[in-house]
Amino acid sequence: MKNLVFNSEEHTVKISFLDRINKICELIPNDKKYCVILDKKVANLHTEFFEELKLKDFSIFIIETPEKQKNINTCLDAINLMQKEGFNRNDAVIGIGGGAITDLAGFVASSYMRGITYLQIPTSLLAQVDASIGGKTGINHGNIKNFIGSFYNPSEIIICAEFLKSLNQQEFLNGFSEVLKHSIITSKTSLDNLKNLAGEINNRETGILLKLIEESIDIKAQVVTEDFKEKGKRKFLNFGHTFAHGIESINHDAPILHGHAVLIGMLMALDYSYELGFLSLDSYQEVKDVISSFNYDFTDIKLDAEGIFEAMKSDKKNTQTINLVLLKEIGQPFLFEETSSDNLQNFITKFINDFKK
Ligand SMILES: NC(=O)c1ccc[n+]([C@@H]2O[C@H](COP(=O)([O-])OP(=O)(O)OC[C@H]3O[C@@H](n4cnc5c(N)ncnc54)[C@H](O)[C@@H]3O)[C@@H](O)[C@H]2O)c1
Repeated sequence: MKNLVFNSEEHTVKISFLDRINKICELIPNDKKYCVILDKKVANLHTEFFEELKLKDFSIFIIETPEKQKNINTCLDAINLMQKEGFNRNDAVIGIGGGAITDLAGFVASSYMRGITYLQIPTSLLAQVDASIGGKTGINHGNIKNFIGSFYNPSEIIICAEFLKSLNQQEFLNGFSEVLKHSIITSKTSLDNLKNLAGEINNRETGILLKLIEESIDIKAQVVTEDFKEKGKRKFLNFGHTFAHGIESINHDAPILHGHAVLIGMLMALDYSYELGFLSLDSYQEVKDVISSFNYDFTDIKLDAEGIFEAMKSDKKNTQTINLVLLKEIGQPFLFEETSSDNLQNFITKFINDFKK
């Protein structure tokens, strides 16, 4: 077990790193009542763990379809269960599942009696390296993702790499985009490390993954600790995201994996950084080489240059100009305000045409 502690504005969050699922329950102290909000798929795939949870005196609230049930009705059902079972301010919520579950459970914890202790056990790579860090909780409302939410940190996060063995390959890569992003915006050394370990990563070697997850979390935690409310440096974590939001918008009818959209978005940001003369050809090529070591499948992603551009323009954050995070060098992101819609539109058209070839 390894602990990493970082400070949020409110308190210290303890992060424990484990190689085996059967060590998790030992870390949960017996000093309070717990409501476990649990992903059904995780329960079914890891039955011994589920049996162990059932043996504890926990209230278990199972979610069958996480993203679909990430809404106010599910929150109310969980809150009603806790109220009925006499949970008070000294008790706690545990969220076990991917990012949809940890966002939802975090929101329940932040709302119940104005906030009770929250313990997070993320089981997808995306949740481990991204959703669990930074204190954003949320639920979807109407058609809008994360429309209702709060900033609320867990008291503890338990990361167990053994969960990752049961993720399908594209779900794994979905989360791996965040690891890649954290490396690209941090340093060449960090990116070289991913290149050298590509074989072990693709084989999901638990020890290697734990180290990489820890590094990736460390990067996000440092940025978030410095800029909890996203006023400055935290914006660099949006590398690739402005383009990705455009891609996700035009795929709204058949939603795609966020990490895959971010990966294409990062390729676009890299290409644009190179085209505008900020990034050298060598660095541009180097990042592309690392990315190509991983087998992303983009076949179901609809890419239409005009649609992507229009969606980026209509984003509420982009009023007069379009805000992008670009790269000066590997490890040196910066904020760029694009004032020329024409330049950007031409670039997107060219990129999408080349990408489809
Ligand atoms: N709070 C934040 O800062 C933040 C950041 C990024 C994303 N998010 C949110 O996270 C969600 C996306 O996260 P996600 O990709 O984990 O989605 P998810 O929770 O929907 O999980 C994806 C799929 O993986 C399954 N799964 C989870 N763990 C598994 C395991 N160990 N083995 C096999 N299958 C497993 C789930 O059942 C689901 O089918 C979105 O709701 C997004 O809004 C939040």
